[in-house]
Amino acid sequence: MEILSSSRICKIILTILSVVLLYNVSTKAQDLQRRSHFPKPGSSFPSDFLFGAGTSALQVEGAASEGGRGPSVWDDRVNRNKGAFIDGDKFPTMIQHYRRYKEDVQHLKNLGINSYRMSISWSRLLPDGTIKGGINQEGVDFYNLLIDELLANGITPFVTILHFDYPLAIHKNTGGFLNSSIVNYYKDYCELLFKTYGDRVKHWTTVNEPQVVGLFTYMHAYDNDDPEPCQTTKLCKQAYIVVHNYILCHAAAVKLYREKFYETQGGEIGLVLGSQSFEPYSSKSEDVAAAKRLMDFFMGWILDPVVYGDYPKIMRDLVGNRLPNFTEEEKNFVAGSTDFIGINYYTSHFAKHETNKTNMILSDNYDALGISVDFNAEGKTLGYLDKYGGNFVYPKGLYDVLQHIKKKYQNPNIYITENGIASFNITNPLKDTHRIKYLATHLNSTKAAIDNGVRVRGYFVWAAFDTFEFRAGFSQNWGLIHVDFKHDLMRQPTTAAKWYKRFLNHVI
Ligand SMILES: *[C@@H]1O[C@H](CO)[C@@H](O)[C@H](O)[C@H]1NC(C)=O
Ligand SMILES: *[C@@H]1O[C@H](CO)[C@@H](O)[C@H](O)[C@H]1NC(C)=O
Ligand SMILES: *[C@@H]1O[C@H](CO)[C@@H](O)[C@H](O)[C@H]1NC(C)=O
Ligand SMILES: *[C@@H]1O[C@H](CO)[C@@H](O)[C@H](O)[C@H]1NC(C)=O
Ligand SMILES: *[C@@H]1O[C@H](CO)[C@@H](O)[C@H](O)[C@H]1NC(C)=O
Repeated sequence: MEILSSSRICKIILTILSVVLLYNVSTKAQDLQRRSHFPKPGSSFPSDFLFGAGTSALQVEGAASEGGRGPSVWDDRVNRNKGAFIDGDKFPTMIQHYRRYKEDVQHLKNLGINSYRMSISWSRLLPDGTIKGGINQEGVDFYNLLIDELLANGITPFVTILHFDYPLAIHKNTGGFLNSSIVNYYKDYCELLFKTYGDRVKHWTTVNEPQVVGLFTYMHAYDNDDPEPCQTTKLCKQAYIVVHNYILCHAAAVKLYREKFYETQGGEIGLVLGSQSFEPYSSKSEDVAAAKRLMDFFMGWILDPVVYGDYPKIMRDLVGNRLPNFTEEEKNFVAGSTDFIGINYYTSHFAKHETNKTNMILSDNYDALGISVDFNAEGKTLGYLDKYGGNFVYPKGLYDVLQHIKKKYQNPNIYITENGIASFNITNPLKDTHRIKYLATHLNSTKAAIDNGVRVRGYFVWAAFDTFEFRAGFSQNWGLIHVDFKHDLMRQPTTAAKWYKRFLNHVI
């Protein structure tokens, strides 16, 4: 009875929400700001739901060679090729989060979030990547201060252990993720983190978007000076080795946490992958098959191993012996190696059967015999193109991804660890009203999925502050809190930040 009636109430609230959202998004920013009684959509989000925003160490900290930090692979890439990166000169300092973390925590508090997704810089703690090379106490202290400051302000830290930036020394000495020895270095680093911060950090994610690293850096040789000849021969395998080692790192960290730390610390540990939904380009069976295949090649690549212990069969069939094998022992420790799944969702694509590799984009896999395209056979798009953020906005894709994970991977706990849209194409980055509609509709999809039994446990906007977005530098203004490079890196909440705050006021 109680369940029935409360789910009925949820439905009613959701309907009201949809109407008000639709009404709101079509009104002017000023009206939005004046509206005092924003709906109560969140009254039926789970009570311990984490609502947050995120960054990564690499993209905000700066202080690249301060405080005893060693260089990471990304310092090296940008230094060697500064001209290719917008704002390459700002790389060493970023938004100076390292120096201004106290002020930044106040901005996060003002945003009204109850959780902050951050990452730790491996090379700040272990400048050459190894325990033997020495622990940098100043680095250890920095994260102690940051974590304590967050907690003192009622913000739960949600910590990514590796968000792209591993120590350059490991890369140079061993080949980095091409060498399975990375697993031991990574495990030592994780042990240091659990020991040092695990009394206060209860939500860990091991790695961020391994498939993106595999595809961009290795398969498509983007920002990679020593690429394998993938484009012409198709028979490349580095991307698969790199992702394989990422998965083994993840599983090793989880095993370590469960065996040595869980009992006393009682936290949870998962991983973060890139996600998108693929819909067939046409009703032809080859496109329908391509859509399913691209799901397996993109998300199944990570999720099949960490849930079931091995890669999707279609990957074995198409990649053949370039796809590494897990030993029986590895299968056992990789299977079930996650407490939750973190997904980063931005947009979705149509999937088209395609064997010609020249038509593929950075996030396509040469072996998947499919490409992701913006327009289907009838010239339709998924959602609409947001001309201020330059992306197709398709909240239903998020709903579909959540349903897909629920159905295919045993209804796990899920965090939406990144969701958001840039605002690079507006004159005043503080007036990011386009982003309100983006966030509102994706929160609505999240809520709809929860009502349908998907176990979503948290939602993090990307990004909390303007972040260094690799080749795009700071030109895309991803932050809910804008950072003004012309005025001493002044932080200011955007219009969407104010909207998110009001939304959260009713939710948390
Ligand atoms: C892999 O790393 C180990 C050190 O951990 C090193 O001895 C070995 O030479 C590396 N292999 C390659 C192919 O670089
Ligand atoms: C994986 O195992 C299969 C079957 O035992 C074998 O044919 C294949 O060559 C192996 N692949 C690699 C990369 O070792
Ligand atoms: C692949 O597509 C490119 C560009 O559309 C074209 O020039 C090339 O001939 C195609 N290659 C094959 C093998 O079809
Ligand atoms: C940026 O805005 C202009 C003017 O509104 C528009 O013509 C253009 O297509 C936008 N660019 C992108 C990438 O959406
Ligand atoms: C909210 O989500 C539901 C379920 O997916 C959908 O039917 C509705 O159109 C959405 N409303 C908005 C405003 O996005």
